[in-house]
Amino acid sequence: MGPDEHICLCFRVSRRKLVNYCRIEKPKVASQLSQCHGAGTGCGWCVPFLKMIFEQWQKGEADPDLPFSMDDYARRREWYKDKGERTMPEEDRNAK
Ligand code: FES
Repeated sequence: MGPDEHICLCFRVSRRKLVNYCRIEKPKVASQLSQCHGAGTGCGWCVPFLKMIFEQWQKGEADPDLPFSMDDYARRREWYKDKGERTMPEEDRNAK
């Protein structure tokens, strides 16, 4: 994902904002990322991904990222909001 793409789509919190928050505030637990513009406090979709960013930062990775394109990430989040499930079938994932 690009640095300015939003990991928390509810509150429009970008990957860049989250990584900078980690660098500056040095959170002790992943849940502290909610203090970065409310990330993760809306629909809840991004919570596991905030944790992934936090864990990568904790391991010292220079540029924590997620293994999705923005389109895929947003489609998965829509699925989650509609169905309440995090796992999206492959055929729906590829549908436009
Ligand atoms: S996408 Fe972050 S709380 Fe909804």
